[in-house]
Order: sequence, then structure tokens, then C-alpha cells
Amino acid sequence: MKVLVVYYSLTGKTRLVAQVIAGVLNAALVEITETKPRKMGPLVYLVGGFAATINRRSKINPIDVDLKQHETIFIGSPVWNSRPAPAINSFIYQTNFEGRSIIPFFTMAGDNSEKALANITAKIEKSQGKVAGSFAIKSHRVSDEEIAARAKEATRNYRGVE
Ligand SMILES: Cc1cc2nc3c(=O)[nH]c(=O)nc-3n(C[C@H](O)[C@H](O)[C@H](O)COP(=O)(O)O)c2cc1C
Repeated sequence: MKVLVVYYSLTGKTRLVAQVIAGVLNAALVEITETKPRKMGPLVYLVGGFAATINRRSKINPIDVDLKQHETIFIGSPVWNSRPAPAINSFIYQTNFEGRSIIPFFTMAGDNSEKALANITAKIEKSQGKVAGSFAIKSHRVSDEEIAARAKEATRNYRGVE
């Protein structure tokens, strides 16, 4: 499998998109999890949101994947305070993406992923990766069926990477 999809998801929306991408492109799928899983609630917005704002990383569990086997890596995160989630910061920080094409993708409540994309692009480049595309999917008041359909549509642009 040339393609890898790595993602973090707190409430399942980014997971759904990641599963669709992996299905369409016959890619390996890896979930990033935190050593101290968060519970959705006001505290996540305060603590998690603030951590994202200041580009913090969080402690993540080790993943069992040989990145050398994959030429293209999709990296998925929810948008947290216009930035990637801390768990994704950790994954990017600890990984050397030299020679890899990276396609970040987001799910978010609103419509604007520009700031999050600029932020994650800088981090990916710092880890030697080349951003070769991106997309973002709105999740608020959008059914899972519709999210999956939009993910399928967005993935169509990357058919060639299989
Ligand atoms: C801490 C926190 C901060 C968020 N900040 C934003 C934001 O700045 N912009 C936005 O559009 N959505 C924001 N959201 C909404 C999530 O991006 C959205 O619900 C996303 O689809 C959740 O993905 P997940 O189900 O994979 O966790 C935030 C959610 C949380 C929990």
C-alpha cells in the first residue's frame, strides 16, 4: 500500500472522512490516540482549544507503521481554534516526512480552514514533508452520509496516488 491515512478524531467526524479516503484509495489507516483521552465537553474547548492555539503537542500512543512504505500520507485533524489538534502536532513533530507527499485534511464546524491549513503546512515542512494537496469538510449540521459523500468527492482528486 503506497498510501497511508493518519488521523486524530475526538467526536468521530475526522475518523469518518479518514475511513472514506482509505476505502477509496485502498490505503492503510492509522488512528492517533492520546495517552490521556479527552472527554468531549466544555473543558475540551478551554484546555484543548487553548493548547491548539499555542501550538502545543500532547502525549500520544505509539503507532505501528513503517512510514518508509508509504509515498503519500494523508493527515487528518479536526480544526481546533483555527489550528490542528495537539495530537496531530505531536505526530508531525515526531515524524520525518522527507521524500513524502503529504495531504492534510480537516473537518470543522465552520467554513474556514485557511488558518489551520497554513499552520499545519508550516509544521509539515518543518518535518521535511511536501504538501501536495489539501481539503476540508464542514461537519456542523451535516449528516454523516453527506460528510462521507463529500469526502468521497474530495478523494477523487487523488485517485492517481494509489
Ligand atoms: C476544542 C475545539 C475547538 C474547535 N475550534 C473550531 C474552530 O476554530 N473552527 C471550526 O470551524 N470548528 C472548530 N471546532 C469544531 C470541530 O473542528 C469539528 O466539530 C470537527 O469536525 C470535529 O472533528 P472530530 O469529530 O474528528 O473530532 C472545534 C472543536 C473543538 C472540540
